[in-house]
Amino acid sequence: MRTAAIVVAAGRGERAGGARPKQYRPLFGEPVLRHALRAFASHPAIEAVQAVIDPVQEEAFREAARDLEKCLQPTAGGTTRQRSVHAGLEALAKLKPSVVLIHDAARPLASAALVDRALAAVQATGAAVPVIAVSDTVKRVDPSGRVLATLDRSELRAVQTPQAFFFETLIDAHRRASKEGLENFTDDAALAEWAGIPVATFAGEPGNLKLTTADDFTRVEAMAGGLSDVRTGTGFDVHAFGPGDHVTLGGIAIPHDKGLVGHSDADVLLHALTDAILGALGEADIGHHFPPSDERWRGAASDQFLAFAVSMVRARGGKIANLDATLLSEAPKVGPYREAICQRIAAIAGIERSRVAVKATTTEGLGFVGRKEGMAAMATVTLRLPAGA
Ligand code: CTP
Ligand code: MG
Repeated sequence: MRTAAIVVAAGRGERAGGARPKQYRPLFGEPVLRHALRAFASHPAIEAVQAVIDPVQEEAFREAARDLEKCLQPTAGGTTRQRSVHAGLEALAKLKPSVVLIHDAARPLASAALVDRALAAVQATGAAVPVIAVSDTVKRVDPSGRVLATLDRSELRAVQTPQAFFFETLIDAHRRASKEGLENFTDDAALAEWAGIPVATFAGEPGNLKLTTADDFTRVEAMAGGLSDVRTGTGFDVHAFGPGDHVTLGGIAIPHDKGLVGHSDADVLLHALTDAILGALGEADIGHHFPPSDERWRGAASDQFLAFAVSMVRARGGKIANLDATLLSEAPKVGPYREAICQRIAAIAGIERSRVAVKATTTEGLGFVGRKEGMAAMATVTLRLPAGA
């Protein structure tokens, strides 16, 4: 075999926090690891992709590697990155590739052009790593943070992955390091330097960012030209009370001695939220899309209006950042139903519960709300759309 890639994904992602390690979390709708695997699996010059994982994540790995035909059976990683890379090299040894590219699963945005440069550089030099010039001034500091020295920036480079090596050279170096009990080299270039292997550099990519903290996920989505067009919309709706035994708010029926009057189910909350989304999209309002004159919407459940607006966001490749609404009402009290309402709205919109808020207030007896003639709701939504959508 000529060329294989190793994607190391056995880390815990402690700095990023969260319930799952960062490489299994979604970025642009797919697991970070899937993006990283695909960068190699879809490259014509790469013949096999060896993932290194924590075996407890085997199922999540299968999901991430689905349909990526060049991905081999994953192998188990170790307690340090170096051990994980070594495990990947040993797993590949029987295939005898001549060149191996080592890549961090936490860098999901490596381009095919970067892989091309890595392959060209390793053919020319035997060992090469992608680098970026450092644009910030860099200081050395003591443990208290006091500046000790200003380093010469022109000599400094930030180092990325994929790092490319002749396979036999790298596996030999790993075996030697491990035999000597050295196991904390943070990248393969450092290990190669220790082993006396000259390491060349080639141009990295500013967009080939490593996801380290939770904030990096948001930043990467925005920077990749992903969803940098941030939009805000507002919505407002009123319905009058009439005869009935419940009101429907946020798709939840709440017992009351009156009902709300409307052509549909008169869910003021969902109507305000729907209009807020339509507003953020620059679209006409809910009455335009669902005219009260249309018999189809008589008594209709309003979750379909919200779902329609959400589908327009999706059709534009966008995402809802958050939905926030306030109900204005003297009665019924919505406090006991608030959690159920928020969960229902999150389910209709297909977003996390944490992105939804519903508050309620009286109007201190003032106005039509204060006279208990009806209810009002106002809503604000923030969307993220692809730049130029
Ligand atoms: N990695 C690995 N095995 C380890 C440690 C790290 O395979 N024992 C992998 C990670 O999954 C990641 C890459 O090495 O793809 C770079 O490591 P890093 O960004 O530090 O990820 P984590 O170690 O998972 O994160 P943290 O240090 O915040 O816990
Ligand atoms: Mg780490």
